[in-house]
Amino acid sequence: AEPQALPRDLEGRRVVISAGGTREPLDPVRYLGNRSSGRQGYALARVAAHRGADVTLVAAHTADLVDPAGVRVIKVGTADELRTVMLAEADGADVVVMAAAVADFRPVTLAEHKIKKTDRDPEPLALTRNPDVLAELVDARAAGKLDTSLIVGFAAETGDATTSVLDHGRAKLARKGCDLLVVNAVGDGRAFEVEENAGWLLGGDGTEQPIPYGAKSRLASTLWDAVNRQLRRQ
Ligand code: CTP
Ligand code: CA
Repeated sequence: AEPQALPRDLEGRRVVISAGGTREPLDPVRYLGNRSSGRQGYALARVAAHRGADVTLVAAHTADLVDPAGVRVIKVGTADELRTVMLAEADGADVVVMAAAVADFRPVTLAEHKIKKTDRDPEPLALTRNPDVLAELVDARAAGKLDTSLIVGFAAETGDATTSVLDHGRAKLARKGCDLLVVNAVGDGRAFEVEENAGWLLGGDGTEQPIPYGAKSRLASTLWDAVNRQLRRQ
Protein backbone atom coordinates (compact mmCIF):
# COMPACT_ATOMS: atom_id res chain seq x y z
CA ALA A 1 0.00 0.00 0.00
CA GLU A 2 1.11 3.57 -0.64
CA PRO A 3 1.70 5.86 2.33
CA GLN A 4 -1.42 7.86 3.23
CA ALA A 5 0.23 11.26 3.22
CA LEU A 6 1.21 11.59 -0.44
CA PRO A 7 0.84 15.19 -1.66
CA ARG A 8 -2.03 15.82 -4.13
CA ASP A 9 0.42 17.76 -6.28
CA LEU A 10 -0.63 16.14 -9.59
CA GLU A 11 -4.27 17.22 -9.18
CA GLY A 12 -5.61 18.49 -12.51
CA ARG A 13 -2.78 16.86 -14.49
CA ARG A 14 -3.46 14.28 -17.19
CA VAL A 15 -0.74 11.66 -17.48
CA VAL A 16 -0.40 8.78 -19.94
CA ILE A 17 1.92 5.90 -19.08
CA SER A 18 2.88 2.89 -21.19
CA ALA A 19 3.92 -0.29 -19.38
CA GLY A 20 4.80 -3.93 -19.94
CA GLY A 21 6.31 -5.72 -22.90
CA THR A 22 4.90 -5.79 -26.41
CA ARG A 23 4.40 -9.12 -28.18
CA GLU A 24 4.92 -9.54 -31.90
CA PRO A 25 3.00 -12.50 -33.35
CA LEU A 26 4.52 -15.07 -35.68
CA ASP A 27 1.37 -17.11 -36.16
CA PRO A 28 -1.90 -17.51 -34.23
CA VAL A 29 -0.18 -19.24 -31.29
CA ARG A 30 3.39 -17.85 -31.19
CA TYR A 31 5.04 -14.49 -30.60
CA LEU A 32 8.35 -12.70 -29.99
CA GLY A 33 8.25 -11.13 -26.56
CA ASN A 34 10.44 -9.85 -23.75
CA ARG A 35 10.77 -10.21 -19.99
CA SER A 36 9.27 -6.87 -18.97
CA SER A 37 6.99 -7.34 -15.94
CA GLY A 38 5.26 -3.96 -16.23
CA ARG A 39 5.88 -3.33 -12.52
CA GLN A 40 7.65 0.01 -12.96
CA GLY A 41 4.92 1.43 -15.20
CA TYR A 42 2.18 0.19 -12.86
CA ALA A 43 3.98 1.74 -9.87
CA LEU A 44 4.18 5.04 -11.78
CA ALA A 45 0.44 4.88 -12.49
CA ARG A 46 -0.47 3.99 -8.90
CA VAL A 47 1.65 6.76 -7.37
CA ALA A 48 0.41 9.35 -9.90
CA ALA A 49 -3.22 8.44 -9.14
CA HIS A 50 -2.51 8.74 -5.39
CA ARG A 51 -1.04 12.16 -6.05
CA GLY A 52 -4.26 13.25 -7.77
CA ALA A 53 -3.46 12.82 -11.48
CA ASP A 54 -5.94 11.68 -14.12
CA VAL A 55 -4.07 8.55 -15.25
CA THR A 56 -4.30 6.47 -18.41
CA LEU A 57 -2.20 3.30 -18.38
CA VAL A 58 -1.49 1.76 -21.77
CA ALA A 59 -0.58 -1.79 -20.82
CA ALA A 60 1.19 -4.28 -23.03
CA HIS A 61 1.79 -7.76 -21.62
CA THR A 62 2.55 -7.76 -17.87
CA ALA A 63 3.18 -10.28 -15.12
CA ASP A 64 -0.44 -10.72 -14.05
CA LEU A 65 -0.56 -7.32 -12.31
CA VAL A 66 -3.70 -5.92 -10.70
CA ASP A 67 -5.03 -2.81 -12.43
CA PRO A 68 -4.37 0.19 -10.13
CA ALA A 69 -7.52 1.68 -8.58
CA GLY A 70 -8.86 4.82 -10.24
CA VAL A 71 -6.73 4.40 -13.36
CA ARG A 72 -8.04 3.98 -16.91
CA VAL A 73 -6.30 0.93 -18.38
CA ILE A 74 -6.06 0.29 -22.13
CA LYS A 75 -4.59 -3.11 -23.07
CA VAL A 76 -2.44 -3.45 -26.17
CA GLY A 77 -0.52 -6.31 -27.78
CA THR A 78 1.97 -5.25 -30.42
CA ALA A 79 4.27 -2.23 -30.71
CA ASP A 80 2.09 -0.99 -33.54
CA GLU A 81 -1.05 -1.11 -31.38
CA LEU A 82 0.81 0.63 -28.56
CA ARG A 83 1.91 3.33 -31.02
CA THR A 84 -1.64 3.99 -32.24
CA VAL A 85 -3.03 4.26 -28.70
CA MET A 86 -0.15 6.39 -27.40
CA LEU A 87 -0.31 8.91 -30.27
CA ALA A 88 -4.04 9.33 -29.65
CA GLU A 89 -3.89 9.47 -25.85
CA ALA A 90 -0.80 11.69 -25.61
CA ASP A 91 -2.53 14.61 -27.34
CA GLY A 92 -3.67 17.01 -24.64
CA ALA A 93 -1.84 15.16 -21.85
CA ASP A 94 0.47 17.05 -19.52
CA VAL A 95 2.92 14.16 -19.24
CA VAL A 96 3.62 11.04 -21.30
CA VAL A 97 5.87 8.34 -19.85
CA MET A 98 7.18 5.55 -22.08
CA ALA A 99 7.93 2.85 -19.50
CA ALA A 100 6.95 0.00 -21.84
CA ALA A 101 9.54 -2.38 -23.27
CA VAL A 102 8.65 -1.93 -26.93
CA ALA A 103 9.95 -4.65 -29.25
CA ASP A 104 12.52 -3.16 -31.61
CA PHE A 105 11.71 -5.75 -34.32
CA ARG A 106 8.76 -7.83 -35.49
CA PRO A 107 8.44 -10.76 -37.87
CA VAL A 108 8.05 -9.59 -41.47
CA THR A 109 5.09 -11.88 -42.00
CA LEU A 110 2.30 -13.08 -39.75
CA ALA A 111 1.28 -16.59 -40.73
CA GLU A 112 -2.47 -16.96 -41.00
CA HIS A 113 -2.33 -20.56 -39.76
CA LYS A 114 -0.11 -22.27 -37.21
CA ILE A 115 3.32 -22.90 -38.71
CA LYS A 116 3.84 -26.67 -39.08
CA LYS A 117 7.16 -28.42 -38.75
CA THR A 118 8.48 -30.45 -41.66
CA ASP A 119 11.43 -32.80 -42.00
CA ARG A 120 13.66 -29.81 -42.90
CA ASP A 121 15.08 -26.88 -40.98
CA PRO A 122 12.93 -23.75 -41.15
CA GLU A 123 13.90 -20.65 -43.08
CA PRO A 124 15.66 -18.01 -40.90
CA LEU A 125 13.16 -15.73 -39.24
CA ALA A 126 12.93 -12.47 -41.18
CA LEU A 127 12.48 -9.41 -38.98
CA THR A 128 11.73 -5.77 -39.67
CA ARG A 129 12.05 -2.66 -37.48
CA ASN A 130 9.13 -1.44 -35.40
CA PRO A 131 8.27 2.24 -35.13
CA ASP A 132 10.08 4.07 -32.31
CA VAL A 133 7.09 5.39 -30.38
CA LEU A 134 9.06 7.70 -28.10
CA ALA A 135 10.89 9.28 -31.03
CA GLU A 136 7.59 9.67 -32.89
CA LEU A 137 5.99 11.42 -29.92
CA VAL A 138 8.92 13.86 -29.75
CA ASP A 139 8.79 14.45 -33.52
CA ALA A 140 5.00 14.92 -33.55
CA ARG A 141 5.25 17.51 -30.80
CA ALA A 142 8.08 19.34 -32.60
CA ALA A 143 5.92 19.41 -35.74
CA GLY A 144 3.06 20.98 -33.76
CA LYS A 145 0.87 17.90 -34.20
CA LEU A 146 0.88 16.87 -30.54
CA ASP A 147 0.09 18.94 -27.48
CA THR A 148 2.04 17.41 -24.55
CA SER A 149 4.10 19.35 -22.01
CA LEU A 150 6.55 16.63 -20.97
CA ILE A 151 7.73 13.45 -22.66
CA VAL A 152 9.62 10.96 -20.48
CA GLY A 153 11.61 7.94 -21.64
CA PHE A 154 13.14 4.96 -19.87
CA ALA A 155 16.37 3.15 -20.63
CA ALA A 156 17.88 0.03 -19.13
CA GLU A 157 21.62 0.03 -19.79
CA THR A 158 24.62 -2.10 -18.99
CA GLY A 159 28.02 -0.46 -19.21
CA ASP A 160 30.59 -1.98 -21.52
CA ALA A 161 34.34 -1.78 -22.06
CA THR A 162 34.28 1.71 -23.52
CA THR A 163 31.11 3.38 -22.27
CA SER A 164 29.55 3.70 -18.80
CA VAL A 165 25.84 3.37 -18.02
CA LEU A 166 25.68 7.13 -17.53
CA ASP A 167 27.32 7.85 -20.90
CA HIS A 168 25.00 5.41 -22.67
CA GLY A 169 22.13 7.25 -20.97
CA ARG A 170 23.40 10.67 -22.05
CA ALA A 171 23.74 9.48 -25.64
CA LYS A 172 20.23 7.98 -25.60
CA LEU A 173 18.73 11.19 -24.20
CA ALA A 174 20.40 13.20 -26.98
CA ARG A 175 19.21 10.70 -29.60
CA LYS A 176 15.62 10.54 -28.33
CA GLY A 177 15.17 14.24 -27.61
CA CYS A 178 12.75 13.67 -24.72
CA ASP A 179 12.48 15.99 -21.69
CA LEU A 180 13.46 13.40 -19.08
CA LEU A 181 15.16 10.02 -19.34
CA VAL A 182 15.20 7.51 -16.49
CA VAL A 183 18.38 5.45 -16.87
CA ASN A 184 18.43 2.16 -15.00
CA ALA A 185 21.72 0.34 -14.50
CA VAL A 186 21.13 -3.36 -15.11
CA GLY A 187 23.21 -6.50 -15.30
CA ASP A 188 26.47 -7.62 -13.81
CA GLY A 189 28.33 -4.39 -14.51
CA ARG A 190 26.19 -2.52 -12.04
CA ALA A 191 28.22 -3.14 -8.90
CA PHE A 192 31.43 -1.94 -10.58
CA GLU A 193 30.00 1.12 -12.15
CA VAL A 194 27.53 2.76 -9.92
CA GLU A 195 28.05 1.55 -6.35
CA GLU A 196 25.00 2.72 -4.42
CA ASN A 197 23.19 4.23 -7.40
CA ALA A 198 20.84 2.17 -9.52
CA GLY A 199 20.48 4.87 -12.10
CA TRP A 200 20.12 8.47 -13.10
CA LEU A 201 17.37 10.85 -13.99
CA LEU A 202 18.64 12.89 -16.93
CA GLY A 203 16.94 16.12 -17.99
CA GLY A 204 16.92 17.54 -21.48
CA ASP A 205 18.04 20.77 -19.78
CA GLY A 206 21.30 19.08 -18.71
CA THR A 207 20.30 18.23 -15.13
CA GLU A 208 21.54 14.85 -13.85
CA GLN A 209 20.17 13.37 -10.65
CA PRO A 210 21.38 10.02 -9.25
CA ILE A 211 18.62 7.58 -8.32
CA PRO A 212 19.46 5.32 -5.37
CA TYR A 213 18.68 1.61 -5.59
CA GLY A 214 15.22 1.07 -4.15
CA ALA A 215 11.59 0.11 -4.63
CA LYS A 216 9.81 0.90 -7.91
CA SER A 217 7.31 3.04 -5.99
CA ARG A 218 10.25 5.11 -4.70
CA LEU A 219 11.59 5.64 -8.20
CA ALA A 220 8.04 6.60 -9.21
CA SER A 221 7.94 9.28 -6.49
CA THR A 222 11.35 10.60 -7.55
CA LEU A 223 10.17 10.85 -11.16
CA TRP A 224 6.88 12.60 -10.30
CA ASP A 225 8.80 15.09 -8.13
CA ALA A 226 11.05 15.92 -11.10
CA VAL A 227 8.04 16.12 -13.44
CA ASN A 228 6.35 18.57 -11.08
CA ARG A 229 9.46 20.75 -10.96
CA GLN A 230 9.60 20.89 -14.77
CA LEU A 231 5.84 21.51 -15.14
CA ARG A 232 5.97 24.38 -12.67
CA ARG A 233 8.86 25.97 -14.56
CA GLN A 234 6.90 25.99 -17.86
N1 CTP B 1 10.89 2.90 -27.25
C1 CTP B 1 9.82 3.16 -28.08
N2 CTP B 1 9.65 2.45 -29.23
C2 CTP B 1 10.54 1.50 -29.58
C3 CTP B 1 11.64 1.22 -28.73
C4 CTP B 1 11.79 1.94 -27.58
O1 CTP B 1 9.02 4.04 -27.75
N3 CTP B 1 10.34 0.82 -30.71
C5 CTP B 1 11.06 3.69 -26.01
C6 CTP B 1 11.01 2.89 -24.73
O2 CTP B 1 9.70 2.79 -24.23
C7 CTP B 1 11.91 3.71 -23.81
C8 CTP B 1 12.90 4.34 -24.75
O3 CTP B 1 12.32 4.29 -26.05
O4 CTP B 1 11.20 4.73 -23.17
C9 CTP B 1 14.25 3.70 -24.78
O5 CTP B 1 14.12 2.35 -25.16
P1 CTP B 1 15.41 1.50 -25.42
O6 CTP B 1 15.03 0.13 -25.84
O7 CTP B 1 16.32 1.68 -24.24
O8 CTP B 1 16.06 2.34 -26.62
P2 CTP B 1 16.29 2.00 -28.14
O9 CTP B 1 16.24 3.32 -28.86
O10 CTP B 1 15.37 0.94 -28.62
O11 CTP B 1 17.80 1.54 -28.19
P3 CTP B 1 18.48 0.10 -27.85
O12 CTP B 1 17.40 -0.89 -27.54
O13 CTP B 1 19.27 -0.22 -29.07
O14 CTP B 1 19.38 0.41 -26.66
CA1 CA C 1 15.14 -1.15 -27.69
